[in-house]
Amino acid sequence: MADAEIGVIGGSGFYSFLDDVTEITVDTPYGSPSDSVFLGEIAGRQVAFLPRHGRDHRLPPHRINYRANLWALRSLGVRQVLGPCAVGGLRPEYGPGTLLVPDQLVDRTKARTQTYFDGHPLPGGDIPNVVHLSFADPYCPTGRQAAVTAARGRDWEPVDGGTLVVIEGPRFSTRAESRWHAAQGWSVVGMTGHPEAVLARELSLCYTSLTLVTDLDAGAEAGDGVSHEEVLQVFAQNVGRLREVLFDAVAALPDSADRDCLCADAHAGWDLGIELP
Ligand code: ADE
Repeated sequence: MADAEIGVIGGSGFYSFLDDVTEITVDTPYGSPSDSVFLGEIAGRQVAFLPRHGRDHRLPPHRINYRANLWALRSLGVRQVLGPCAVGGLRPEYGPGTLLVPDQLVDRTKARTQTYFDGHPLPGGDIPNVVHLSFADPYCPTGRQAAVTAARGRDWEPVDGGTLVVIEGPRFSTRAESRWHAAQGWSVVGMTGHPEAVLARELSLCYTSLTLVTDLDAGAEAGDGVSHEEVLQVFAQNVGRLREVLFDAVAALPDSADRDCLCADAHAGWDLGIELP
């Protein structure tokens, strides 16, 4: 039996999630994930929690081993992933405390490994992997619906849809960059949503991003710009209700065997040369 079917990857300010956990170490062909994986249960579902930056926030966004993180979760049996993360709002109406469940993503990262399909055989395989998957809709529609409904159920009206732009970091945006992001019509800005989402897709995992606005980004506010303290403080103020929303969303996700979204079938037509773990 799988150790877990649902994964939660927690971000800044979110270092523990489940109450009664078994901590396990997972190794992968891509190296070690950010930390141990914590296995527990929510509403009878087996859940694996992984702190994205490590439990002591040791890893900046550009040094996270995203490939190892997703591979580790998949190898435990995970097929659906919820990825909460802190973001900056790009519009004045998306102030601190806003929960936005994006339906689109823009990648502005610069130096991250963002594929398992790098032309080499996958671990244990012997055919070169040159694979091009659709990423037109980067997030799982079923997972998004579960997240939006869960937030409403907790009287936290979320913004349903919008574009998350992911920057390389670790610095925040300049005012000009931030105004440019906003002028493109993008909604929120973060540092970790990519390549997490695309790697999930490459492993046929359903992936849903829940973005918590911790600050107005530099172009949308008049003060000195964003500070890391502000991000952590606002996240801490909201982490309790975000946890409740995640619990309810986990409980509402379909059985992994019953997934009928495109994410579950992302490899249709491609020979990967191996069975994914
Ligand atoms: N994470 C939280 N706030 C952010 C911001 N303004 N820009 C990028 N990442 C963030």
